[in-house]
Amino acid sequence: MADDGTVPLPGVVDPLRFPGDLLRGKVVLVTGGGSGLGRSMAYRFAALGAKVMVGSRKEENLRTTCGSITARGGDARWKVTDVKNASACRALVDETYSAFGRLDILVNNSAGNFLARTERLSENGYRSIVATVLDGTFFMTQAAGQRWIEGNAPGNVLSIVATYAWTGAAHVVPSACAKAGVLALTRSLAVEWAKHGIRLNAIAPGPVPTPGAWERLIAGSAFESAAKEHIPLGRFGTHAELCDLATVLVSDLSSYITGQVVAMDGGEWLVGNTFQQLRTMPPEFWESMEEARRSASRNRPSA
Ligand code: HXC
Repeated sequence: MADDGTVPLPGVVDPLRFPGDLLRGKVVLVTGGGSGLGRSMAYRFAALGAKVMVGSRKEENLRTTCGSITARGGDARWKVTDVKNASACRALVDETYSAFGRLDILVNNSAGNFLARTERLSENGYRSIVATVLDGTFFMTQAAGQRWIEGNAPGNVLSIVATYAWTGAAHVVPSACAKAGVLALTRSLAVEWAKHGIRLNAIAPGPVPTPGAWERLIAGSAFESAAKEHIPLGRFGTHAELCDLATVLVSDLSSYITGQVVAMDGGEWLVGNTFQQLRTMPPEFWESMEEARRSASRNRPSA
């Protein structure tokens, strides 16, 4: 973090590729905007003139995102929100209208995921992923859509999915089921709500390094190298690239595009996504990962 409390993210806040006022007058709500790709998108939209609302479970992260935006002269607010909860989602949308008087763009970015042998997943493990990804996206989209339709205002929804929404993927099964549901929601509502001037699209990023995803999904440095080599373009994606695509899809640059998903993965899914390779991992790999998690939870100070 820089001395002024801002978080440097090369390329993300540089609006030169786009007119600097591309999103001026727009209000964008980003779920999961306190960290990772959500934070980067919040920074980018603010750099392009939007007012930004961020929601997630951790107040400290949200404060950092908003502090960085306001330190650069932008306008950003936050509200602690667990998107698993429908009334919390409605409250986040209400708060956006109270703070800014409008909402133009919703970015469904909140997610949860971890690697597991599916036959060993607990009910709660399954539910925590599906409730965050699918229920959360549904509740947020419905809450925003209700406001837009009632107010006769156009709207724009961008959801972050994964290419395994259509291929499936070994060892991330709840996430794959939930992301497939988000894609179905995107395509369904693109038709149902087109008459209200509401567009819905999705981005399916391949691996883009973030602490949250890496810690949970990149199973060691050998797996990381293999994952990178496996990608036809030979590298992981960057936050700036994701923000470029998100900018196009949330802005009027894509005013005739709806119901689409754009893969941004260096060609990865065409050769089979990385998680599929985990099927060849021996039982010892899973046992040692499960033991590491048990030991981390034993050593965690009790609340
Ligand atoms: C098995 C696990 C587990 C693991 C959690 N659980 N981690 N089971 N293996 N590694 C189980 C727990 O035992 C518990 O069930 C249940 O899941 C809920 O766990 P909690 O830790 O209590 O829940 P919570 O604090 O709400 O954490 C939610 C989470 C966590 C989803 C489990 O991973 C999280 O907060 N993730 C947010 C960030 C994230 O995942 N980012 C990556 C997104 S990447 P029991 O039965 O014990 O109660 C992505 C796309 C990637 O989505 C695409 C790349 C190409």
